Amino acid sequence: MGGEGKTRDSKVGTRKKTFSEVQAERLEQAQRTVLINCPAKISEKKFLTYLSHHGKINSHYFYESYGTYAVVEFSEKDSIASLQDVTRTPGIEEECAVPFKSRLFTLTLKNPSTQAAHQAPVHCHKQSTILINDLVQKLCSADSVSNQLYTLMDEYQLTEENTKLRFLVCSLIQDIACAYFPECTVKPFGSSVNTFGKLGCDLDMFLDLDEIGRSPTRAKTGPFYMEYQMKRVPSERIASQRILSVIGDCIDNFGAGCVGVQKILNARCPLVRFSHQPAGFQCDLTTNNRVAMRSSELLYIYGSLDSRVRALVFSVRCWARVHGITSTIPGPWITNFSLTIMALFFLQKRTPPIIPTLDQLKDLADAEDKHIIEGYDCTFASNLNKIKPTENTETLDVLLSDFFEYFGNFAFNKNSINIRKGKEQNKPEPSPLYIQNPFERALNISKNVQEKQLDRFVALARECAWILQQEDKGHSSLSNSQPWGLAALLLPSVASNCVKGKKKRGQASERIKSLLDSLKINNSESLVNNGGKRTFSNQTQ
Ligand code: CTP
Ligand code: MG
Repeated sequence: MGGEGKTRDSKVGTRKKTFSEVQAERLEQAQRTVLINCPAKISEKKFLTYLSHHGKINSHYFYESYGTYAVVEFSEKDSIASLQDVTRTPGIEEECAVPFKSRLFTLTLKNPSTQAAHQAPVHCHKQSTILINDLVQKLCSADSVSNQLYTLMDEYQLTEENTKLRFLVCSLIQDIACAYFPECTVKPFGSSVNTFGKLGCDLDMFLDLDEIGRSPTRAKTGPFYMEYQMKRVPSERIASQRILSVIGDCIDNFGAGCVGVQKILNARCPLVRFSHQPAGFQCDLTTNNRVAMRSSELLYIYGSLDSRVRALVFSVRCWARVHGITSTIPGPWITNFSLTIMALFFLQKRTPPIIPTLDQLKDLADAEDKHIIEGYDCTFASNLNKIKPTENTETLDVLLSDFFEYFGNFAFNKNSINIRKGKEQNKPEPSPLYIQNPFERALNISKNVQEKQLDRFVALARECAWILQQEDKGHSSLSNSQPWGLAALLLPSVASNCVKGKKKRGQASERIKSLLDSLKINNSESLVNNGGKRTFSNQTQ
C-alpha cells in the first residue's frame, strides 16, 4: 500500500543523502577499516581491548566466510599504521610470502587450548540469503502479498555490514592500484550501491583515474606551462586495457585473499574478474566506466524514492532467478539490470506514475548535476528532496499482478522500453527485446537476449498474472501450509506449466485447482466476481 511505503521511506531520516555523499562517506570510512581472520572462539572483549591499543574503535562485527572474520572500523586512519607496525610477516617454513602489507590480517591465539576452551563462538552477521524453501515458508506467514514483497526484500537486501564489507574490498583494491596511481580511487557501482543489491551479488568496482587527468588551475602568471610527459596510446580503450592488465597482475600477485584472477580485456567494457575469498563475493574491476556509475546513481534515486520500487524489483529479480529467466552465467538471458529497467518502466507507466521519467529528472537538475560523459548527456537531479513524492497509492498486491499482466502482453515484437521518455517506442532494430540504454541512447542493454528466453519470460509472466488474479483477495482464507501469493510464484511448478506448451497455458495445474477449491470454500463470492471480471485474455490462446 502506498501509505505503508511512505512510512517505511520516512524512517530513512529527515534529509535523504545524495549518492555522492553516501559514496564519499563510506569510502572514507572504509579507509579506516581492517579485515581480520580470527578464531571463531575468541573473547570479543579481549579482542577489542587488544586492538584499542592502536586507537579508538568506532564499530566492529564478525562474519563467516572460509573462517571467521572481523571487520573493525577505527576512528582514525593513523590507527592502521600503528597496527601494521606491530604486525609481522608470516613465517616462511615451506612457501615464500610476497611481502605486500595490506589491511587484511590473521590473528591467532597464543595458547589455543586454554584460551578457547570455555569460549563460545562469536556472534556472526549473515552474509548470504536464506534458502528458497525457507523463504517460501516465511512468505506464507505474511498477511498480504504486499507484505510478502517487503519480507522478501528484508531477507534479500544487502545488510549494513555487507555494504561496509563491499566498500572495504574496494578500498583494499585501491591500496594495490595506488602503488601505481597514488591519486586513484576504487568505487563500487552496480547492485552493490544502487539499492537493488541482493546478499551475495557481485561487486562491480570502478577504478577512477580521472582526478589524475584533471589539470590543476593553470598558473596565470609566468611565461611557461608545465606538462607531464606520458606514454601515449591510440585509444582510451587501449589505455584501459593496459591499466587493467597491470593492476590485474598486481591483484593476482600481491592481493591477499584475491583468487581466480581473470583478465577479460576484450569485452565491450574491459574488466578484471576475481573472487575475494574472505569477503565471499565475486569482483569485477573496470575503469573508464563513468556512464555505468551514472546509471547506478540513477537507479539509486529510483530505489530511494518510494519503497514499493525496491520491493517490486527484489521480488521480480528473485522470481526470475528461481525460474532461470536470469542466470549467473553470461549468455542469452535477461539480466538483472534489464529486468530492473523493465520494472522501473512499468512504474513510470502507472496512473499516476510512481516514479518520474529520466527526462523529468533532467528538468529538475541543477547546474552541478550537469554531466556530459563521452558525449552522452547523463544529467539528472541528484537531490532526492527535490523530487515530489508520488500521489499513487496502489498496493504492491496490485502492482505485482499488473507487472506480470503488463509484460505478459507487451508488444515486444514492435516496441522498445525507454525509461527516459517513460513511453514505448518503435524498435529501431529487430532484437527480440529492446531496452534503450538510458544514456548511451543508441545502445540496447538487452541485445544479448534471444527469442526463446524472452518467450519463456512472457509465458511465465502470463501464468503468474493469472495465478495472482485468481487468488485476488482470497488469500487470507488460505491455510499457511499452502503457498499463496508471491510464495506460489516461486514454486518450480509454475515454470513447468509453461514448459508444457502453449496449449496447456489455460489449464489449471493440480496445485492451482486445489488452491481454487480452497478459495471457493472460503470465499466463494469474491472468487465468482473476480473470476468473471478478470479472466486473463491470453490464457486460452
Ligand atoms: N550496466 C550498463 N549497461 C549494461 C550492463 C550494465 O550500464 N548493458 C551498468 C549498470 O549500471 C549496472 C552495472 O553496469 O548496474 C553493473 O552491471 P551488472 O553487474 O551486470 O548488473 P547489476 O545491476 O550489478 O546486477 P547484478 O546484481 O546482477 O550484478
Ligand atoms: Mg553487478
